[in-house]
Amino acid sequence: MTDIDTSQEPPPIENPHNVFPLSWVQETEKMEEVYASALRENWDPSALSWDEFDVTKYTWEEREAIAYWWTLLSVFDASAPPVFAAALIKTYEDHEEAPVRRCFFSVTRDEQNHEHMCGLAITTLLDHPDPLTYEPKSELGKKLQRNARWLYYNGSRYWDGYKQAIPKYSLAVLFSSFLMGEIAAATIFHQMASGATEKVFQEAFTNIGRDEGRHMAICMSLMQRDYPKLEVEDRSLITKQIRAGYLFLSAVLFEPPEDFWDLPDDFIEVQRAGETVAREAGFFIPDYETKKANWREAILNLKSVLDVYDIPFPAIPEVGISGEEISDIEMEDIIPVF
Ligand SMILES: [Fe+2]
Ligand SMILES: [Fe+2]
Repeated sequence: MTDIDTSQEPPPIENPHNVFPLSWVQETEKMEEVYASALRENWDPSALSWDEFDVTKYTWEEREAIAYWWTLLSVFDASAPPVFAAALIKTYEDHEEAPVRRCFFSVTRDEQNHEHMCGLAITTLLDHPDPLTYEPKSELGKKLQRNARWLYYNGSRYWDGYKQAIPKYSLAVLFSSFLMGEIAAATIFHQMASGATEKVFQEAFTNIGRDEGRHMAICMSLMQRDYPKLEVEDRSLITKQIRAGYLFLSAVLFEPPEDFWDLPDDFIEVQRAGETVAREAGFFIPDYETKKANWREAILNLKSVLDVYDIPFPAIPEVGISGEEISDIEMEDIIPVF
């Protein structure tokens, strides 16, 4: 056994390339509370009341229409696990305090549940594990599948951009986009829960809505921590990201804006036809005016948060909100969230 040279200085602890901090500092107490409730409120999508869900009482057209809504949701919720996993890695690289790392871990965990739920609903409704290779049984089902393929294609257009954005943006900037998604998501899922007629969907939307409410609280506490010391260039980046978030999330919360989403002319008409059939079968989806009012309210909530920190708000004329004109946003600029 060799003698250890105790006179030699140990290596320095300031190592920016170390992916993990050897530290468990707790500064943002609110985040510890949210993480504790995430542990308490954990749920298992496969343990919901599936045995009370008799899918055979629906026609194939109805099953395809309801599955389409879950497919639309999946375009957002199935991208959430890798999106938040990448943000989780960033919290380690940045040597964030322990509660921030833990909270991001919990969001990634929750989003996996949301994606799992989408998969269970689609697989049960279609009797097939994916909506893209499924063979539609009704005429409407065929058109809805074509819509799904367009959505899927659009979803392929932001991932490379996001991977490049992650190291460039501060967590504060990323959080403004995240908050937009969480506020909107919390609203729609609470509504879907109260309108649901199937127990399994009611349970799922209640759980998902609760999760999204926690995600919102996480974003809010990080903003309270970081926004008072925000850099000037970050402010304009946030304004742009809010407009981008509106364009992106409108596809599920409202209707996809044409010059941003690359979609065929009859896309919205087909989607509306699908929603009508789903609604008539008892699957609650807010109507056009309700969606618009919800979206407007969620955006105004976000505006009131950003106003406190003097961050200019973008114009969103589609829902009657005036502000700074932002143009030239591409799918590649998107920080995808839900
Ligand atoms: Fe979320
Ligand atoms: Fe989600």
